[in-house]
Amino acid sequence: MKVSVAIMAAGLGTRMKSNLPKVMHCISGFEMLYHIIKEAKKVSDDIHIILYHQADLIKDKMNKYFNDVHFIIQDHANFPGTGGAIMGVNPKYEKLLVLNGDMPLLQAKDMQNFTHFNAEVVMSAFTCKEPFGYGRVMMDSDNNVTKIVEEKDATPQEKKVTSVNAGVYLFNTPFLQENLPKLTNENAQKEYYITDLIGLSHNVKALIVDEETFMGVNSKYHLSIAENLMQERIKKEFMEKGVLMRLPQSIYIEADVEIEGECILENGVSLLKGTKLLNSHVKSNCVIEKSTISNSSIGPMARIRPDSVIENSHIGNFVEVKKSTLNGVKAGHLSYLGDASIDEGTNIGCGTITCNYDGKGKYKTIIGKNVFIGSDTQLIAPVNIEDNVIIASGTTVTKNIKKGSLAINRAPLKIVENFFYKFFGDKK
Ligand code: UD1
Ligand code: CA
Repeated sequence: MKVSVAIMAAGLGTRMKSNLPKVMHCISGFEMLYHIIKEAKKVSDDIHIILYHQADLIKDKMNKYFNDVHFIIQDHANFPGTGGAIMGVNPKYEKLLVLNGDMPLLQAKDMQNFTHFNAEVVMSAFTCKEPFGYGRVMMDSDNNVTKIVEEKDATPQEKKVTSVNAGVYLFNTPFLQENLPKLTNENAQKEYYITDLIGLSHNVKALIVDEETFMGVNSKYHLSIAENLMQERIKKEFMEKGVLMRLPQSIYIEADVEIEGECILENGVSLLKGTKLLNSHVKSNCVIEKSTISNSSIGPMARIRPDSVIENSHIGNFVEVKKSTLNGVKAGHLSYLGDASIDEGTNIGCGTITCNYDGKGKYKTIIGKNVFIGSDTQLIAPVNIEDNVIIASGTTVTKNIKKGSLAINRAPLKIVENFFYKFFGDKK
């Protein structure tokens, strides 16, 4: 069945207590709205996103990800509310699936479930112990949905109803066209409610859905719950594919990360956007961002910053790598490797620093094969170290070094015998 999709994202999101629009808050590295659009695109090629508050900001951001969705500006001044939101939608197909922009856990398969019914309106409901804030679903004695009553409009009796509106609907397009003009704002919030359409149809089907999957994020506390649930989902999928995780509840993986082959992630690892991992072992408390790592071991406590490519290498503790390519390299301890390219067989001694920034520009350090870099070396970029070079410990490298050379700059060591006693006297 072909469906059009409307995603409501025009609300102010007051309960988030933030200057950032609600749907722009991220979980697992991406905006809530991004997650739902991505899934909606799997079920429809006609997607309408309804915006109002900070519309330009949201539109600009989403246009970076998607180029084939329609943005509609709600006539919020005259028609506020979720009913007002869909008044401007002109669906291409006979059915319109209406989603909330604040439901980041919804997946394409959940959306598809609505299309299995042939009713004028398919609404979604679940039963919950704490229905506060949700619209309550009213039914007649035959279990047919009669109407939805919002929290703020509910009588004390109605508030006791624990069957609530999950907020996703599939409408027949002609039904909408006929009934949207009938909505009024005669309610506690003086808004046009999409939920009033339920009371206007005699052919409503209620789909029972999962409370967690359909949770609406209204506050930063809800945001944390949704993120936890998505993290569980992401990690479970990888573990089923053979990724070993130690204390997975302490591991954080953003939504587009790719992990292949046999990988181990120890506790406290963060794999951020754009990271790709292949047959590698990431030890405790590493942060890896937008980098590709294969056949390597990283950490513990290493930080790999964007645009690094690390292959067949060993990166040890307190090593920071940024925008660098390492192939067959050992950098065991306490180093900064930025804007560098380092080739096979090279050993980076403890405390090595690529001095890549002079306060104005960033410069490259190129290191060839089988180079031995002694501890506490500074490489002042731009600089080129050819193959088979030895750099003595404590050297500050300011020039390119030719193949096969030794580089050393050290003040000669002077030893003054018995100086201690002359200085402190015999007492010590
Ligand atoms: C809504 C439902 C409620 C349901 C709950 C499920 C209504 C009136 N109530 O309540 O029955 O139990 O979802 O999560 O629909 N929006 C607009 N334009 C507006 C107002 C809101 O686009 O003028 C968007 C918001 O950005 C949001 C969505 O609609 O993405 C829902 O709005 P929200 O204020 O969160 O509704 P709830 O109070 O949660
Ligand atoms: Ca909501």
